[in-house]
Amino acid sequence: MHTKLNQLLSQLEQSVDESLGYPGAMDFDYRALYPFLDYSLNNVGDPFTATTYKLNTYAFEREVVEFYAKHTRAPADAWWGYVTNGGTEGNLYGLYLAREIYPQGIVYYSQDTHYSVSKNLHFLGMKNIMIRSQNNGEIDYDDLCETLKIRRDAAPIIFANIGTTMTEARDDLQKIREILEQLAITKYYIHSDAALSGGYLPFLERDDHWDFADGAHSISISGHKFIGSPIPCGIVLALKDNVDRISRTVAYIGSRDTTVTGSRNGFSPLLLWQALEQLGVDGLKRRAEKAQATAAYAVAQLQQVGVAAWRNNNALTVVFPQPTEKIRERWQLATADGISHVVCMPHIRRKQIDALVADIEASNREKQND
Ligand SMILES: Cc1ncc(COP(=O)(O)O)c(C=O)c1O
Repeated sequence: MHTKLNQLLSQLEQSVDESLGYPGAMDFDYRALYPFLDYSLNNVGDPFTATTYKLNTYAFEREVVEFYAKHTRAPADAWWGYVTNGGTEGNLYGLYLAREIYPQGIVYYSQDTHYSVSKNLHFLGMKNIMIRSQNNGEIDYDDLCETLKIRRDAAPIIFANIGTTMTEARDDLQKIREILEQLAITKYYIHSDAALSGGYLPFLERDDHWDFADGAHSISISGHKFIGSPIPCGIVLALKDNVDRISRTVAYIGSRDTTVTGSRNGFSPLLLWQALEQLGVDGLKRRAEKAQATAAYAVAQLQQVGVAAWRNNNALTVVFPQPTEKIRERWQLATADGISHVVCMPHIRRKQIDALVADIEASNREKQND
């Protein structure tokens, strides 16, 4: 191997064990898919329509989206979806569909929304209003209600967070729909940004409201987060009628142009397909429960050494006051507004949590002795 590649590999090997702050699962083994790297796979066009370009993985892509359509309770035969380059693209897609239905609509989203969403709104030129968040990161329903009241002339497009980036808080579609009903608003669109949580919530006991049966018109899930993939990817699902509005047939590819990009990754559907095929619902559930147990363990261990750690219900994200810069740097802890978090993905082991807790405890002791 070239020395530069060798150096990169050792860097990755060194930093992986101390990577606790970002939500990418790494308990995967995709080596069986090496032979497919010999082909220029390209899923250009609509995975549900035949194309002239045969080096595609449409059949696998369809199985992947079908799996999540089923588990997000999409209405039978009335949904559509594709494998994206990640959660950001899925959110762009949901907002794009919403804008085509309600060109004068206003997007409402909480202040805890992922940074990429304001960029998406800028691309799409959509009017938007930021709503306050509660302390746990969930949207402030009173502020949403009061703001909706003022702008009853424009259809609301609700951008709901189903797991915010910093605290993995989930907005509740049942509460949001109650507000809309109370205000007699009948024309609206709801998109669920379920980047991390959407990968695993369907396999746990449910007390949340965010999927199609709860009123979402589209849902975006990242593939490289809970499922796990060496390449960023995602899944977007939407109500089919809304997709049909934007579709047009393109002679050059012999397919429908229903996706954000033209050429699309044909390899990532194979990765997701293999993960789902090998794990199945039982495996996904097992990984989700294990990760939940690690998160509960992390909260308990941090609290035991006096750190005010907490997590939202059923979240894999453990939140605590930001530790020293040295610790944040070593453990690659995402930090904003004075709080840091660890995301207990299925590959994270208790001994990694123990080592982080020991570091924080030692630094707090040092501070006390100063
Ligand atoms: C809540 C939320 N939405 C969207 C995204 C963007 O997803 P991706 O990085 O897959 O594009 C993230 C990424 O961390 C996220 O946390």
